[in-house]
Order: sequence, then structure tokens, then C-alpha cells
Amino acid sequence: MSEWTLSLTVDGPERTQALAERLGAGLRAGDLLVLTGELGAGKTTFTQGLGRGLGVRPGIISPTFVLVRRHPNVPDGSRPGGPDLVHVDAYRLASAAEVDDIDLEDTVDSAVTVVEWGAGKVEHLADSRLEIVLERAVGAAPAGGTVDEHGQEDEDAEPRRITLTGIGPRWAGGPPSLEPPAESPAPGH
Ligand SMILES: Nc1ncnc2c1ncn2[C@@H]1O[C@H](COP(=O)(O)OP(=O)(O)OP(=O)(O)O)[C@@H](O)[C@H]1O
Ligand SMILES: [Mg+2]
Repeated sequence: MSEWTLSLTVDGPERTQALAERLGAGLRAGDLLVLTGELGAGKTTFTQGLGRGLGVRPGIISPTFVLVRRHPNVPDGSRPGGPDLVHVDAYRLASAAEVDDIDLEDTVDSAVTVVEWGAGKVEHLADSRLEIVLERAVGAAPAGGTVDEHGQEDEDAEPRRITLTGIGPRWAGGPPSLEPPAESPAPGH
């Protein structure tokens, strides 16, 4: 089975979301993403960026009691006619058997399915998957946060290592292009 791994480090939540947005822009119906990382690693933050790239209805949040949320594609969004996003938090699900109770197989072919805490529970849903691991980048935390492109200090910003592994025929062509678009000149004053 084909497999590749791509690893990047980002310095704050906006960068995590920008990376996820570029990934989301190229995702297709039937894609399955399995998100791994400790509490607060940034799985939901990443999913918010994916939603922007997919052009689905905003409002992606950590579903505390709701296990599954469907975010429909927005006709006047960034990808009119694109797939919906099915966002799952499997933290409270113990096994693949419990995953089967929430009927993800009914939507997996027609939507992009993203599962936080899905490792070891959802692999049977599709023959290909993208595994995404978010980790706090040890020893690299800048004191007092970073300054973003608007000159705003983001006290919340911490570096994260994001590792993508593509598994199965869908990803046999290698990693998607996640390069940022060419720098546009800064607006003059
Ligand atoms: N580089 C970064 N990438 C993502 N989030 C970051 C980063 N730096 C700081 N953060 C902050 O870390 C927090 C991540 O929270 P988030 O809800 O996305 O985590 P989670 O992995 O979904 O947690 P849970 O397991 O509870 O669902 C947010 O407050 C976010 O602003
Ligand atoms: Mg979360």
C-alpha cells in the first residue's frame, strides 16, 4: 500500500489554519482525514482552516456533546458545489464498533470526513486516508508569543509540528501542494 509522510512546523494557530485551508482547497468527496494530537494540540483549529478551504458553512467548534456535525458547502463560498464537511469528535468513542453506531459510512463517500481522535477507530470507513498528527514543538516556544502579519501579538501562539501521512490509492500520487501562494506586495500607505 502506498504511503508518504510530510512534516512541517508552524508558529501559531493562523499558520495552522492557513496550511489546513490550502489542504482543504484540494480535498474531494470521499476523503477521510484522521486527526491525532493531545488535548489542545490544535485539531479543531486545523479543521476550521480545512472548512475555509472547502468553502463550507463556518462555525466549526469542539463538539462537546455532539459527536458529528455536518457543515454544508456554501454556494457563494470559496468552492461552490464542493463537498460538505463531516466533522467528528471520536474522543468519547471507545472503538470501531461504536463508530459504526454513528453511521459515518452513510456520508463518507459524498463528503469530506474529518475525525478528531479517530486513530484506531475509523480506518475501516475508506480504503485511503490522510493521517494528521499535531504536536507541540518541544523547546521552540517563543516567550510571549509571536507577532502576526498585522503586527498583533498573539499570546496564544505556539509552534506545532504537523505531520501528514497519506495512505492508500487516493494519495498514491504523493503529498498535495501546501506551498503558500506567492507573496503579494504589502499594501502601500
Ligand atoms: N500553532 C498552533 N496551531 C494550533 N493551535 C494553536 C497553535 N498555537 C496555539 N494554539 C492554540 O491551541 C488551542 C488548540 O485548541 P483546539 O481546540 O484546536 O485543540 P484540539 O486538539 O481540538 O483539542 P481537543 O482534543 O480538546 O478537541 C487553541 O486555543 C489555539 O489558539
Ligand atoms: Mg477539538
